[in-house]
This record gives sequence, structure tokens and C-alpha cells, in this order.
Amino acid sequence: SGLDGKFKAKGKKFWGSCADANTLNIAANVAVLKSDFGQVTPENSMKWDATENTRNSFTFGGSDTLVNWATTNGKQIRGHTLVWHSQLPGWVSSINDKATLTSVIQNHITNVAGRYKGKLYGQSPSPLYDHWDVCNEIFNEDGSLRSSVFSNILGESFVTIAFQAARATDSTAKLYINDYNLDSNNAKVRGLVALVNRVNSANKLIDGIGTQMHLGPGGAGGALAALTALAAAGTEVGITELDIQGAAPNDYTTVVQACLSTPACVAITSWGVSDTNSWRASSTPLLFDGNYRPKAAYNAVIQALS
Ligand code: G3I
Repeated sequence: SGLDGKFKAKGKKFWGSCADANTLNIAANVAVLKSDFGQVTPENSMKWDATENTRNSFTFGGSDTLVNWATTNGKQIRGHTLVWHSQLPGWVSSINDKATLTSVIQNHITNVAGRYKGKLYGQSPSPLYDHWDVCNEIFNEDGSLRSSVFSNILGESFVTIAFQAARATDSTAKLYINDYNLDSNNAKVRGLVALVNRVNSANKLIDGIGTQMHLGPGGAGGALAALTALAAAGTEVGITELDIQGAAPNDYTTVVQACLSTPACVAITSWGVSDTNSWRASSTPLLFDGNYRPKAAYNAVIQALS
């Protein structure tokens, strides 16, 4: 019963949603999270600006709220996100030497991932592993590295620095690289797969690829090709932030079928429960309406999983 239960019955790890204190305060939203979702991703509370807005002064109020709720309610958590050019405090962006930036990355990851080590997996499924989006949105559309303080100062080595720090902090966690527009077998997908292969050939550090899947109408058409191309990197793959403009039932079931027919696709996370709390609310992209009632897309997904 419920989306998560039906998805797990197909052999997958979980179907989750993002959440944070602002949506955990809404009773109707919480009821749906409990009945239909097996995992939560902190929508904003684990980002750098929320956890270390001032250098080496860590603030975990929002993230603790999310983690405590998930632990109490038996939900798994995907940690999101350790190294991202956005929501990044100015004091990080203005670092201009390799040694300082390296130790700042290491200190951030040691503290944030360290606080939640062993706490992100909730009570199911087995085997139990923490999940982390270690690097987020580091590619341009052509598959090259996005310009950021990380790539500008450290080149590609920041990826290995970040993953090594996460591995050293939480040795059994599933460490993900996460990005958007990985929605067909495109240049960005190929650039990401090539980087994962380069990093992992030296030292198997990257366990998973997250494809966010913020889709437009019809955008699900490339999902199977994308998942197949990503799986060629030899890691597991998660759909980490799913929402689809207009929420056409056929678009949603196309994504679900693509994941079901790709063994490496282990999980789906919706980027929210209700349209009303979505970062792109006006495009009504989610499975539940403004009254937290299931939409046609929800019913279609349940049917596709039955
Ligand atoms: O908390 C402050 C509040 O104090 C302030 O008064 C208000 C005024 O702007 O801003 C609040 O912060 C906002 C924050 O969400 C919390 O609500 C930020 O402005 C706003 O930019 C931020 O948006 C988030 C966005 O990431 C940027 O971090 C969205 O909620 C969140 O859904 C979105 O999620 C991202 C993923 O992390 C990565 N992939 C893309 C995805 C969608 O953009």
C-alpha cells in the first residue's frame, strides 16, 4: 500500500519526497509523507548556507528537525548536499588558494556528514546505508565542468577531495554525484559518466549518480535512454528530485517504467508532496494537489506499480 510500498514491492529501495521544517508543520502534508513516502531529502536545511554560513560555526537547527522527524517516523534520508556552487556563503566563494579551499571543503564535510553518520538510513530497507549528494550540479550542458570557486581554484580535483572526505567520514555511505538535465543520452550525461569513470578508476569513491529529473511536458521521453547511459558508469542511479510540469499521467508513468526497466535505477524521490509547496508551484508538477489530495498522475503511477 502507498507509493513507497508498491515501489519497494517491485524491488526498489524507496520512493521519497523532499521535506523540511516548513512542510513538516503542515498536518495534511505529514499524513501523506507517512502513508506514501519512504524517504525524505532536506529541501534546504543541509545546504552550506544553512549549516556553515560562518566559517567553522555550524548550525544544525533545521537539519536536526528533519532528521529527528524521519528517525521518529522510520523514514530513510538522502543527505543533500555537501558541495554546491549555489546557496554557498560568500566567504567560501571568495577563497582563492588551493590549500585553504581544500581544508574548508574537508572541514565542512567532516562536520556535516559526521553529525548524521549512521542516522540517515531510517529503519528500512536492509542493508542500511546513509546516502549523500556529495557534489551537486557541477556540469555545464556540454559536459564540461561548471565554473565555480571549486573548479576555478582546484580544477577537477575538488571532486575527489570531496568524495574522499565523505568516504573518510562515513565509510559505508552511498556517495552520489547529482545533477539536472540528465534527461536523455546527451552531452551532459556523457560528460558526467566520463568523470565518474575517471574518478572511480583511480579509487572507487562514487557509488551513485543522481538524476534530478525536473521535467517539462513530454520530457520523460528520454528517461530510459538517460538511465541506461548513466548506468553504464557502473554505479547505482537514483531519480532524486522528480517533478514534471503539468504532471501528465503519461509522463509520470513513462518515468516509472524507465526506472523499473533499468536494474541500476534504485530509487525515486519526488521534489515535494503537494503542488502548493513546490519550488515551481505554478507548473503544478507534483503528485498531490493543493489540498494534499492525489492527482490523476498519482493514480496512474499506483496502477503502473500494481
Ligand atoms: O529561508 C529564507 C528566508 O529567511 C528569506 O526570507 C527568504 C527570502 O528570499 O528566502 C528563504 O530562503 C529560500 C529557501 O529556498 C528556503 O525557502 C531561498 O530564497 C530560496 O532560493 C530557496 O529555494 C530553494 C532552491 O533550491 C535554492 O536553494 C528551493 O526551496 C529548493 O526547492 C531548491 O531545490 C533545488 C535543489 O536543492 C537542487 N536542484 C534544483 C532544486 C530546485 O531548484
